[in-house]
Amino acid sequence: MLGSGFIGRFYAESLQGYRSRDKIVSIYSRREESAKKFAEDYKCDHWSTNMEDAIAHPEVEIVCIALPNNKHEEAVLLCCKHKKAVITTKPLGRNAEEAKRMLLAVEQAGIFNGYLEDLVYTPKFLKAHESVKNGALGRVLWAKSRETHPGPHSDWFWDIEQAGGGCILDLGCHCVEITRSYIGKDIKPVEVMCWADTQVKPIEAEDHGIALIKYENGSIAQFEVSWTFRGGLDLRDEVMGTEGTIWINSFLRTGFEMFTTGKGADYVSEKAESNTGWLFPVGDELNELGYNHMFMDMFNSMEKGAAPKETFYDGYVVNAILDAAYKSAKSKLWEPVKLDIWRGQEGLSKPSNYTDYDADYYLVKEEMTHYGTKKLILKNKSTGKFEERILA
Ligand SMILES: NC(=O)c1ccc[n+]([C@@H]2O[C@H](COP(=O)([O-])OP(=O)(O)OC[C@H]3O[C@@H](n4cnc5c(N)ncnc54)[C@H](O)[C@@H]3O)[C@@H](O)[C@H]2O)c1
Repeated sequence: MLGSGFIGRFYAESLQGYRSRDKIVSIYSRREESAKKFAEDYKCDHWSTNMEDAIAHPEVEIVCIALPNNKHEEAVLLCCKHKKAVITTKPLGRNAEEAKRMLLAVEQAGIFNGYLEDLVYTPKFLKAHESVKNGALGRVLWAKSRETHPGPHSDWFWDIEQAGGGCILDLGCHCVEITRSYIGKDIKPVEVMCWADTQVKPIEAEDHGIALIKYENGSIAQFEVSWTFRGGLDLRDEVMGTEGTIWINSFLRTGFEMFTTGKGADYVSEKAESNTGWLFPVGDELNELGYNHMFMDMFNSMEKGAAPKETFYDGYVVNAILDAAYKSAKSKLWEPVKLDIWRGQEGLSKPSNYTDYDADYYLVKEEMTHYGTKKLILKNKSTGKFEERILA
């Protein structure tokens, strides 16, 4: 494990808890005291303040990168050098160029690689995605994902050089992969329109952003991200298709509501702003945030010699979309998504929105009225006129 901070500890709790046969054997942290403390907490025999030593340790089979964004590439290159399988937290890079270098390096080194996008492994996402894949929503027209909270917990996130961006990179990477998965990961993202601003925090990066991502098949994705939202961690997705709709609230309204005057007040859930009054605890955070299913997929795939659901390639595509979002926020125009490497479908066009009713008419809509008759709205193919038809 590289990094003993916020996500390193979430990962450790999950990967040592769930399958019970996985073990952290080597921990790297900058400071001796945090490396030792982590090693003690997770019963890890080897700790080091030297990243390469921690990676090269002979018992290490796979390296998990849980370091600040500007340290991902250095760590990935060391894994390539020592031919160690590697999984890295999000975002893969600070931009697509960095992500592309990491993708090419792991592929050249021939090592297993996984992209730790936990939010496409949450139980709610897995169930919803299965329904979408089975056609329960028909053709996906619009997929929206929101992640907003009051801002990250460590200094480096707020420094644009180390982090590579603000909330668009930090939180938008989750939303992009969620919506991209609903629309279809083999469908090419083509253009992005984005608004971004720094409304509250004294930082160079954006603390609020909203964007639309156009896909080649006519589907549209939307993300809403903020580091200025008050009230905790808001994680919500919406998917709209020709045959149905999905709404998911993953964190603030999970069906678990609690009131306390504050007696015995303790940790409630990630980014909760209060531990008194009405609260929205999360039953099993590791599971609800997808970490358990994510590590299952990573380790099972590695053992089978197969690629996991999320690889460095996915991390690269996400970075490319976010690069276009940043460009658009500046230019105020739709900006193309620049993908030097694209492994999905090419040349798709928007499907027709004309449904035949019969040889002479298109069907616009059918509806059961409150007065008990079924009504059809039809469009005459030759005149273009709209007509109502009442069915008995
Ligand atoms: N849901 C998620 O997937 C999720 C959530 C939070 C963070 N993250 C990602 O995890 C990574 C780490 O974030 P975090 O929240 O754990 O941060 P953190 O600040 O809590 O921990 C970072 C760790 O890296 C070490 N570190 C800091 N600066 C370093 C440097 N210059 N050189 C070497 N080590 C350094 C710190 O000592 C600490 O051990 C980031 O890429 C972040 O985007 C992912």
